[in-house]
Formats: sequence, C-alpha cells, structure tokens
Amino acid sequence: MTKKALITGITGQDGAYLAQFLLAKNYQVYGLVARRTSDSLWRLRELNIESDVKLFNGDMMDPASLVRAMEESEASEVYNLAAQSFVGTSWQQPSLTGQVTALGVTHLLEAIRIINPKTKFYQASSSEIFGLIQAERQNEKTPFYPRSPYGVAKLYGHWMTVNYRESFGLHASNGILFNHESPLRGIEFVSRKITRGVAQIKKGQINKLYLGNIDAKRDWGYAGDYVEAMWRILQQDKAEDYVIATGVTTYIRDFVRFSFAEAGMELTFEGENENEIAKIAACNNPEYQLPIGTVVVRVDPQYYRPTEVDLLIGDPTKSKTQLGWKPQYDLAGLVKEMVASDLKNLKRLS
Ligand code: NAP
Ligand code: GDD
Repeated sequence: MTKKALITGITGQDGAYLAQFLLAKNYQVYGLVARRTSDSLWRLRELNIESDVKLFNGDMMDPASLVRAMEESEASEVYNLAAQSFVGTSWQQPSLTGQVTALGVTHLLEAIRIINPKTKFYQASSSEIFGLIQAERQNEKTPFYPRSPYGVAKLYGHWMTVNYRESFGLHASNGILFNHESPLRGIEFVSRKITRGVAQIKKGQINKLYLGNIDAKRDWGYAGDYVEAMWRILQQDKAEDYVIATGVTTYIRDFVRFSFAEAGMELTFEGENENEIAKIAACNNPEYQLPIGTVVVRVDPQYYRPTEVDLLIGDPTKSKTQLGWKPQYDLAGLVKEMVASDLKNLKRLS
C-alpha cells in the first residue's frame, strides 16, 4: 500500500528536498502551505515536483487547519519542518517565533492525538538548543543552553515531543540537526548569502559583501543528506532522538575563503572584527578582472547578534550506528555546488 506523509514547511529548503526524497520512495506526499502574497512554491518548481504533491492551506498558529490536514491526508508519517527558522529575526519577532516554532509543535501533536495517535511524528529540532555549548562535541546527552528566542522556542518543541512520547506513547522523535545548506537555502542564511554574493560580485551587480561575526564556527552538511536521516528516524521501531551532523566544524571566514576560491579568487583577511576586510590576493579567473587588493568583504556590526552561538560541532555516533546514516557530501563538495548554482541562477529571485 502507498504510504502517505504530511510535511509542514514543504515550501522551505528541507521540505522541498524531503518531498522529492519521499516521492522517489513512492510515498503520496502532502504539504501544509501558509498563505503568502508572494510565490512560495519556487523550490518545489525548481525540483520539478510541484504537481506531484498535494498541498493544503494551513498555518502552525491555526490548530484547526492542522487537524484538517491530518484528517484529509490520512498520513501515517508527519514531518514537522515548519518554523520561523531564521535566528536573527527571532530577536525582532520573539512572540511570533514562539507561536510558530514552539507552540506550533503542540498544535500538531494535539492534531495527531485527535486524528490518529499511531501516526509517526518527526520534529525538526536543532543544534541551536546547545547554544552556549556544555561539551566539546555535542551529542544526545549534552545539556542544552539556547542563546536566542529561536533556540528557546526549538527547545520547547523538543521537550514537547519527548513529553508526548512519554505521556501518550506517541511515536515522536526529534532530529537534532546541525546546519545544513544547499543551492535552495534561503538567501538570509550566511552560506547562501556568501555564495550568492560571490556570483553577484562576479556579474558586477555588487562590489562588496557585508557580513557579521565571521569568527563563529559551524558544523555544515548538505540538506539532501539530512532529509534522508529524517526518514530513517521514522523507520525505527522505537521513537528516539538523534543528532545529525558531520562532526567537522569550520569558521565562517573559511567558508568565505573557500567560496571565493571556488570562483577563482584568493582572499586575504586584514584587521579584526568590525575593522575586518577581505581583499583579493590573487585571481586566477580572467573573467573577474578585479585588481589585486580590491576589497570584496567587509564586516558590518549590524549583522552581529545580541548573543552568539560561537561554536557547534556534532557527534553523530548514534545516528551512524543506529540509523546507518552517514553524510555523502563534505564542505568542499557543498561549496562547489552552491557557488556553481548561484553563478548559473543569478537571475532567479531567491
Ligand atoms: P526554511 O527554509 O526557513 O523553511 C521553513 C518553512 O516553514 C517554510 O516552508 C515556511 O513557509 C514554513 N513556515 C513558516 N512559518 C509558518 C507558519 N506560521 N505556518 C506554516 N508554515 C510556516 O527552513 P529549513 O532550512 O528548510 O529548515 C526546516 C526546519 O528544520 C525548520 O524547522 C528549521 O528551524 C529546522 N532546522 C533547520 C536547520 C538547517 O540548518 N537548515 C538545522 C536545524 C533545524 P514559507 O516558505 O511560506 O515561509
Ligand atoms: N545570517 C547571517 N548573515 N549570519 C552571519 C552573517 C551574516 O551576514 N555574518 C556572520 N554570520 C554568522 C552568524 O552570526 C552565525 O554565527 C553563523 O554565521 C550562521 O548563521 P546562519 O547561517 O544565519 O545560521 P544559524 O547557525 O544562526 O542557524 C541555522 O542553523 C540552525 C542549526 O544550528 C538555521 O538554519 C536554524 O534554523 C538552524 O536551527
């Protein structure tokens, strides 16, 4: 029998890749889509799957719409990917972030209890809950210390998922995912801001890229690898929580360096923090024709956050041994694909 899955956040980066992954496994895929005045289906179109999924209008802040989506989809697997997911915005809209990213989880868990408590539930938990890290490498046993309203909201969703598993016996699991990127990443996140910036500089659309704290470190993987882990989590007999990460961490400044190098430009960094600039040191790509010494990156304090997560590095031992999951992409492969995509698709709006 065809399996049915409901994905909230299907219009986001992970939602689109997960839908593509499940369709390839012959699932019938349903998605919850919040009403927007601008086109939010571009990622589904980009992957050529827009007409293969069935979409319901709904919102994580509207519990009845979630009950209806559960009822109409008859899903046996629910992936809760919907969130106000941008950490920076969570200080400007902390209440909205709490409504969507935290309370939305409870609304969906309640819809599952009402319609079919046998449904398997995946919650998109996040390495942001480790925040001010309490262990050198973060795993499922590491204590949490979120550092943003987003992190706090994710921690609430995480614990509600655990609580509904323990209180009502739901098959409810958290995937504690570390940062994962792709050519479909939103342009506000630093990885895509950088790779798109490289393309814009090349085309002469901008001459400088302004960034915030380039001394932070992240454990970056490829979104396509991570959606497979989500599916594997729900195929387990017993619901549990898993860290999904590469186990390698990299400075933002090195992501910058690698991205420019991918386009044929070597950079040197000068100064510290807000005085920091990156200049072209060498340019092997004749297409750029930028003189050596041109400033292409400048640190701008407007992108600093009130509190920062300085370092994330995951320990994915449990997911490797129990789920048999391991990432296929390394950072070099990821940067290569993102830069190539941005150079090709610069005309695309997002
Ligand atoms: P994303 O691209 O920002 O996608 C978020 C999705 O949530 C979009 O489809 C968005 O719809 C939807 N959404 C926002 N507000 C909503 C609301 N009120 N009701 C219904 N839907 C709403 O995020 P992502 O990178 O794919 O991440 C997927 C999930 O994993 C998120 O929960 C994120 O917090 C979490 N996570 C991500 C990472 C990562 O590195 N990518 C790591 C750990 C955890 P619109 O498109 O219409 O705005
Ligand atoms: N966005 C952004 N823009 N970040 C910048 C910039 C900039 O100009 N300059 C430096 N950074 C730094 C941020 O301060 C942060 O330390 C790091 O780059 C990564 O920022 P983001 O790409 O915005 O991601 P994030 O780590 O805050 O959050 C992402 O990963 C989480 C998992 O750890 C999001 O996808 C979250 O939804 C996810 O939960």
